[in-house]
Amino acid sequence: MSPQPLRVALLGAGTVGAATARLLQGRADLLAARCGRPLELAGVAVRDASRPRDGVDPQLLTTDVEALVDGADVVVEVMGGIEPARTLIERALRRGVPVVTANKQLIAQRGPELHAVADGAGAGLHYEGAVMAAVPVMAVVRESLAGDEITSISGVVNGSTNYVLDLVARKGVPFQDAVRQAGELGYLEADPTEDLEGLDAAAKIVILARTAWDLPVALEDVQRQGISRLTDADFRQAAAHGTVVKLVASAWRSRAGGLDRVEVAVRPVALPQDDPLAQVRESVNVVVIEARSAGTLRLQGAGAGGDETASAVLGDLVRAVRSLP
Ligand SMILES: NC(=O)c1ccc[n+]([C@@H]2O[C@H](COP(=O)([O-])OP(=O)(O)OC[C@H]3O[C@@H](n4cnc5c(N)ncnc54)[C@H](OP(=O)(O)O)[C@@H]3O)[C@@H](O)[C@H]2O)c1
Repeated sequence: MSPQPLRVALLGAGTVGAATARLLQGRADLLAARCGRPLELAGVAVRDASRPRDGVDPQLLTTDVEALVDGADVVVEVMGGIEPARTLIERALRRGVPVVTANKQLIAQRGPELHAVADGAGAGLHYEGAVMAAVPVMAVVRESLAGDEITSISGVVNGSTNYVLDLVARKGVPFQDAVRQAGELGYLEADPTEDLEGLDAAAKIVILARTAWDLPVALEDVQRQGISRLTDADFRQAAAHGTVVKLVASAWRSRAGGLDRVEVAVRPVALPQDDPLAQVRESVNVVVIEARSAGTLRLQGAGAGGDETASAVLGDLVRAVRSLP
């Protein structure tokens, strides 16, 4: 007898959700083989079910998110925002249903309490896609380096701001024009605050730091400065010194008053041209991890995008299904 399909609830059909729905259905055979049983897309929650979505069967669209969650064996949350995403994830976890999410702000702000619920219910909570999309940095920090001591993590983890900084540094575009061009090309949201003020990068470095050191790290702990107050004079000065300005997110261990601490920062830094972080172009992301035995590891790739994030989401989905009892 062939095994019963596993019912997947997909919350969101935007950039990431639509790509996830398309790939989930297009790769049904591959995913069934990797999971050991078929996956069935049970429904796709949206705010407006009357609007058609590319690659998503209109019959699957629903606005009854709670019913969708309650009938699912696995929940994939790609709607974004804190509420109702948090409540819905908690609802699924309390029933012992594993959850996959790409929601970096939610995990950065409420991750510890969601993990407590997940642990209490014996359900998995997975979020590789929340940090640098398909670049598997979470898996490396959480699993591959579990037997090592990570000493620092630093990276260019926000593609939108890197696109702007790269336009200024390599094409000589004035800073404000570069911000406008990045917006027109879709690299920045209509409200670019989260990118320009370093909030997106802060969420990612907080998640990485917590995972690397298993210590409490909050968004409020991040020494944060975005790029919005940079001026063309700053870029001229950096170039005159043979350096390149990048928005760098970093985390490192420190000891103060006999206590182990984690320091986290996001700020523009003028880097030497040959620094690996200085060399990332356009919207590419890079992260450099230093570990006592492994030495220096560098991971690089597209840190955003529908298909790229969906790749990480599907990887987590397979992981979640494989760890089901
Ligand atoms: N985009 C990326 O490259 C990327 C990369 C990594 C991580 N992420 C994360 O992935 C998540 C999704 O991002 P996205 O870019 O795909 O967002 P998006 O394009 O804005 O899509 C959000 C989707 O969620 C639905 N939604 C929002 N609130 C809802 C509610 N209350 N009830 C039901 N449906 C709701 C929306 O429905 P309607 O369509 O009806 O409005 C839309 O389909 C975010 O947490 C983001 O940080 C995104």
